[in-house]
Amino acid sequence: MADASGNIEAKNYGFDIPVEKKSFFLKGLDNFDWGIKDRMSRIFDVKSGKTVMLAFDHGYIMGPTSGLERIDLGILPLVEYADCLMCTRGVLRSCIPPDVNKPISLRCSAGTTVLTELNDECIIDIEESIRMNASAMAIMVSVGGKYEATTIRNLTKIVDLGMKYSIPVLGVTAVGKELARDSRYLSMASRVCAENGAAFVKTYYCEEGFNKVVAACPVPIVIAGGKKLDEDKALEVAYKAISDGAAGVDMGRNVFQAQDPIAMIQAVRAVVHDGAKPDKAFELYNDLKK
Ligand code: 5RP
Repeated sequence: MADASGNIEAKNYGFDIPVEKKSFFLKGLDNFDWGIKDRMSRIFDVKSGKTVMLAFDHGYIMGPTSGLERIDLGILPLVEYADCLMCTRGVLRSCIPPDVNKPISLRCSAGTTVLTELNDECIIDIEESIRMNASAMAIMVSVGGKYEATTIRNLTKIVDLGMKYSIPVLGVTAVGKELARDSRYLSMASRVCAENGAAFVKTYYCEEGFNKVVAACPVPIVIAGGKKLDEDKALEVAYKAISDGAAGVDMGRNVFQAQDPIAMIQAVRAVVHDGAKPDKAFELYNDLKK
């Protein structure tokens, strides 16, 4: 019960100490809501300002992708090294124990597989993201593709819903076969995602001008790894992307298809969080490799 008479007199007002004004540690998000910042702070390491996300949502378009045939065998041993898990609700419910307690970037768009052209993409209900305690909702956006309008509409819809419940949206730039993965295209696609409200953007690294892609995107960018490369090359890509200003990676195949995925994800962490040079990270990979 409140006790007015026994209350200690309040006197620590710190009149001479101004209230500290602090900018949020991720770019472009100062004016987002508290809940979004809280979720972003779970995905990104507050100290390094970076993230190593592990993407294993490939099955939703590709079926049992190499390395993902058995999520319990291929992915669960990697989970402890990931800052965030990117997957579908199906795999999350069926294969990921909730007590791993990792932030989830939930794949929230669906509708097409690799057996057809991209067509009628839709988004899953916001209630699913709330039920799954998602820290972010990932939406595929096909800028310049035949179904550009559908995917951008999906992005704007999910951002509206995400704003309502403070769940940030990750805009994932899908690049159709007919489009070049160059800085001109990637900066346009990333910028379109940010302009439409994505709190962060996942795109591909490009050799020329990736620093421009990052600079022109007002919110953090994480890179997808893309097709499997040799481990040393994949670490080099991660290093260059981070050097150009990327806020992390959201890698899939280059981790879970590596000869030793557990060693690989730790080497990627060394690059992303500790700024290890690619040769040092590759040395680490070889040391850790079984
Ligand atoms: C596809 C995705 C995938 O999650 C992502 O591309 C997978 O990562 P990687 O390319 O590193 O295997 O977002 O749209």
